[in-house]
Amino acid sequence: MIIVETIADVRTACDRARALGRTVGLVPTMGYFHDGHRSLMRVARARDDLVIVSLFVNPTQFAPSEDLSAYPRDLAGDAAAAAAEGVDLLFAPSAAEIYPTGTPFRTVVHVDELGDHLCGASRPGHFDGVTTVVAKLFSIVGPCRAYFGKKDAQQLAVVRRMASDLDLPVEVVSCPLVREPDGLAMSSRNVYLDDDERRAATVLWRALHEAAEAVGTGVRDATALRRALVARIESEPLASLDYAEVVDGATLEPVTWIEGQALVAVAARVGRARLIDNITIVAGRDSAAVDEGVFASSTPPVRS
Ligand code: PAJ
Repeated sequence: MIIVETIADVRTACDRARALGRTVGLVPTMGYFHDGHRSLMRVARARDDLVIVSLFVNPTQFAPSEDLSAYPRDLAGDAAAAAAEGVDLLFAPSAAEIYPTGTPFRTVVHVDELGDHLCGASRPGHFDGVTTVVAKLFSIVGPCRAYFGKKDAQQLAVVRRMASDLDLPVEVVSCPLVREPDGLAMSSRNVYLDDDERRAATVLWRALHEAAEAVGTGVRDATALRRALVARIESEPLASLDYAEVVDGATLEPVTWIEGQALVAVAARVGRARLIDNITIVAGRDSAAVDEGVFASSTPPVRS
């Protein structure tokens, strides 16, 4: 694996690979790799010939009050992990390489509405930072597949929409959310949690799991589900709820009744960490599937 810091070097490697008929896979990250990141690298490794991981803690997606300077970094550890996953090229640019004229940057890619609610409501401007840097990465790498985790379901929806609306030559691939054995969604920010907070943080998954079970027993009333999610998360004294929402899987608009594909998404602050989690429910008339697992039941839906 080679580590490169310049846009020019990435372009050369990608152009050369495509000229030889090879496919290019891109995994955009902010580093401090855990198994969630590594799972994306594995999927890319299995599908593409040249696998590139970008590692850039993108300043434009952090608000001034957020954890940009504290965000965990470990370039040596990340390079070892990426090499172990068979990554070919680690692109670790400086902020000056990505934003040569400094920040705020004059050009901003904005996807209207999709980024406004859920995380966008408590992190105004966050998704503009994400889409701007991802658009730049797509432009640097060129035609490729780009791998994103369902952990950041809203980010995935926003990036997918941007690529489609701007006809970018990139196939956006979504990859499963990876959890710790006790259900906590893996996140670089979990490192902020002390032992008590780490235990408390599982409340997000427990709330989602209960919601899935409720849907499995026939509940389709999204308002009731939302109420139960809020109550469960607020029952944990160390967790401070940001949101608990049931939204349409594609538009991210809130729904009142679960029919077809719904995204159940939660966010809470535990100690210094802002944590997010979600599950996708596909509800039919008398069965419901949650992500990969089926919580199905033969109980007909109950309209309350
Ligand atoms: P980062 O938080 O480092 O995440 C990089 C990629 O890893 C994202 O696609 C994210 O969804 C995925 N990921 C993180 N935790 C995961 C988990 N537990 N299971 C599966 N996938 C997981 O997301 C970003 O960086 C940035 O916003 C970025 C897209 C790189 C733009 O700066």
